Amino acid sequence: MKIVFATGNRGKLREAAEILGEGFELVTPADMGITEEIPETGDTLKENSIQKAQYLYERMGCNCFADDTGLEVDALGGAPGVHSARYATDGHDFDANIVKLLAELAKVPDQPRTARFKSVVTLIIDGEMHFFEGTLEGKIAQERVGTQGFGYDPVFIADEAPGHTVAELGDEFKNRISHRGKALRAMAAWLRENS
Ligand code: IMP
Repeated sequence: MKIVFATGNRGKLREAAEILGEGFELVTPADMGITEEIPETGDTLKENSIQKAQYLYERMGCNCFADDTGLEVDALGGAPGVHSARYATDGHDFDANIVKLLAELAKVPDQPRTARFKSVVTLIIDGEMHFFEGTLEGKIAQERVGTQGFGYDPVFIADEAPGHTVAELGDEFKNRISHRGKALRAMAAWLRENS
C-alpha cells in the first residue's frame, strides 16, 4: 500500500519504514514536491498531528498519516510536552534541546527524573480521520550517551532497558518498545483489517 507520511524527519521516516514493513510504500511530502515546513501550531499533540495530516490531505488529496510526539518530564510539570521540537530554539535543534533539558533538571536535583514519550498518529484514509497512540515510559539520564536514534534518545532511558539510553539500543529494539512503534503497529493492523 502506498501512503504519504507527513514528515521531513529522516529518523522518523526510517523508523516508520522499519515498523510498517514490506506491505507499505512510504512517500514523503518532499517526494511529492512539497518542500515547505508543515505547520504545527496546536496546543496538544493530537491537534498538531491532525494539523499536519490535514495540511497534506488538503494539498494532495491522498491517503496520508502524520505523527506528533512529545516528551513529558514529571519534574518539569510535563514540559517540554507539545513544545518538544522547539524547546530551546525555533529550529528543531536536537543538541540545544538536550542541553536545555539537562539544565532545567539540574535546577530540581531532588525530583525524580521520570518521563515518557507520547505519540499521536492521525491517519486520513478516503477522507476519514483515525487516531492511534503509543507511550514509552522511562526516565531522563544524567548525561547524554549513545549515537543512534534521534531527538531526545541520547538522554532517555526506557523502563524496558534500564542500563542504557535509547540512543544505545539500535532501531530494532527501539521500534519494538517505542511510542511510535506502538502507534504505527496499531495503525498497520487497522489498515490490514479495513482496507
Ligand atoms: P515532532 O513530533 O516531530 O514535533 O517531534 C517533537 C520533538 O520530539 C522533536 O524534537 C523530535 O526530535 C523529538 N522526538 C520525536 N520522536 C522522538 C523519538 O522517538 N525519540 C527522541 N526524540 C523524539
